[in-house]
Parts: sequence; structure tokens; C-alpha cells
Amino acid sequence: MQLLSIGQIVLIYSGLPRLCLGHNHSQPRVDQAQTPISKLAFTSEIPLSTRVYWMRQAILALGHPCPYAPFGTAIVNHTANSGLGELVCTGANSKSLTGNPILHGEIAAINNCTQILTDPSGPYKLSPQQALAAFADLSLYTNAESCPMCASAVRFAGFREYVYGTSIDTLVGYGWEQIQISSAEVFRRSTSLPSSSTLIGDVLANETDPLFAWQSDLAYPCPRGCSRVEGWCEADVVGVGLYQGPVLAHGEGPGY
Ligand SMILES: *[C@@H]1O[C@H](CO)[C@@H](O)[C@H](O)[C@H]1NC(C)=O
Ligand SMILES: *[C@@H]1O[C@H](CO)[C@@H](O)[C@H](O)[C@H]1NC(C)=O
Ligand SMILES: *[C@@H]1O[C@H](CO)[C@@H](O)[C@H](O)[C@H]1NC(C)=O
Ligand SMILES: *[C@@H]1O[C@H](CO)[C@@H](O)[C@H](O)[C@H]1NC(C)=O
Ligand SMILES: [Zn+2]
Repeated sequence: MQLLSIGQIVLIYSGLPRLCLGHNHSQPRVDQAQTPISKLAFTSEIPLSTRVYWMRQAILALGHPCPYAPFGTAIVNHTANSGLGELVCTGANSKSLTGNPILHGEIAAINNCTQILTDPSGPYKLSPQQALAAFADLSLYTNAESCPMCASAVRFAGFREYVYGTSIDTLVGYGWEQIQISSAEVFRRSTSLPSSSTLIGDVLANETDPLFAWQSDLAYPCPRGCSRVEGWCEADVVGVGLYQGPVLAHGEGPGY
């Protein structure tokens, strides 16, 4: 109720029961997804302050106060205890750093989590099969609504929850090039997958929106910790504090 009262979107999309492995077209399609269920026991148990905390961690995953393509993700285990939950991994858009066009923040984080979950000398030491199953316990926080590739990845992974800040519509309004298919639409069309994911949108958008607004609007204030340098937002302190990576090239258009 708390989530709904501040205008956020909470939807659940369910697929076929987990025991049905693979496609079985002789089974009737369970399509519960057409009806958003606005009240969910475990969702409403998680206070907004906890959502805010993890959305800020998704922002901090950027490692810089004002990167050009500031798409960041944090993946969290909320079943771990009754407190904040446990961070499993983070990821940030790494397309420009790596030359890999699909390393959006969500994909980078999923890759990172898989690596961490299956690391034989890491804290989890899971087998590949155990790692695949582990995603059903996890919540993915992303500071912007996922593109359809990443929203699909969220559903293929079978995350328990998917939480975003800035909406695709808002990104498009700022001039970002986007494939205009909402996550809700991707989720609605993925009901034959053997998992359910709860979608929670517009979390902390008051803090995520400004990360995406300055690139196309010279009059827009830079995110905190940055100032305009020849029109561009640059970190006030480079090499100290948040900043951990190489400086991104300025040559890109508004895309990611
Ligand atoms: C597929 O559905 C049929 C009919 O309900 C059932 O007999 C069969 O066991 C199912 N196969 C699998 C792999 O789920
Ligand atoms: C999440 O937390 C629960 C409860 O502590 C634990 O059983 C489960 O293994 C954890 N999953 C991951 C991937 O950390
Ligand atoms: C993977 O996640 C860990 C834990 O949050 C983080 O310290 C690390 O920087 C992440 N690695 C990458 C490549 O994003
Ligand atoms: C954004 O809104 C949240 C409540 O949803 C509030 O806690 C936070 O202080 C706000 N941030 C700013 C920068 O106003
Ligand atoms: Zn994406």
C-alpha cells in the first residue's frame, strides 16, 4: 500500500508452474499476467526506505557521479533476513569501455552475479544449475527502466523482483534513443516462461531522472558532484571518492 500511495507501479506477471520444464504446447497456457495484482504480501513487507537504499546502490554502481550513459544495477537478496537484504553484485553500463554493445548495466550485473555465484573460491560456490536457480531469490534494481533486451533477460533469469527508477518514456522525453517497448509489455508477453517476476516502477525517480537529463539540456543542472565544463558535466573531483574508472569518451550521441 505504501508503494502504491506514492504513485509507483507494482505488477506481478506469472508464468507456468516451475515443474513444467520446457515447452509443452499440449498444456493450456496460464496467462495470469493480463491482470495486474497490486497487493503482494512480500512486496509490501519491504519498506520504501529499503527500496530507496538499494536504488541508491544501483546509482553508486556507476562509480562516477555523472557518467554519460549512467545506467546502473544492483542485485539483492531480500530473502536473506528481515533487514535491508544482501548485495550479491552490481553492474554498470560497460558498452563504451568494452566495445560490447550488449553490456547494458543489467546484463553486466547478471554476468557479474553469475561469476560471483559460481566462483569456486567465492562466498557462494554454486554449481551452474544452482546459480540458475538462485536468481528466483533475487531482486534486480536498475536506475532506469530496462530496454526490451534487458527486460527479457530479467524474465529469462527468473528474478523474483525487478525494480526500476526512471521510465523509458522519461528517457525518450530527454532525447535518449530507446526501443519503445515497456518492461510491463515484455513481462505481459513472457508468461509462458517458468517463473514469475514482480515489476515495481518509478522508485526514487526524483533522484534517478537527473542522471539522464543533463546530456541533452545544457541548462539542466549537473548531478551532484559534477559541474559544467564547456557544456559537459564533469566530476568535480577526479580520481577521488566515487570515481574509479577511466573517463568515458564524449563522442557518443544520446544512446547507450
Ligand atoms: C505435456 O502435457 C501432457 C498433457 O497434459 C502431459 O501428459 C505430459 O506429461 C506433459 N509433458 C511434460 C514434459 O510436461
Ligand atoms: C538468499 O538468502 C536466503 C536466506 O538466507 C538463502 O537461503 C539463499 O541461499 C540466498 N541466495 C543467494 C543467491 O544468496
Ligand atoms: C561485481 O559486483 C561486485 C559486488 O557488488 C562489485 O564490487 C564489482 O565491482 C562488480 N564487478 C563488475 C565488473 O561490475
Ligand atoms: C526523493 O524521494 C524520496 C522519497 O521517495 C526521498 O526520501 C528523497 O529524499 C528524495 N530525494 C531528493 C533528492 O529530494
Ligand atoms: Zn538494456
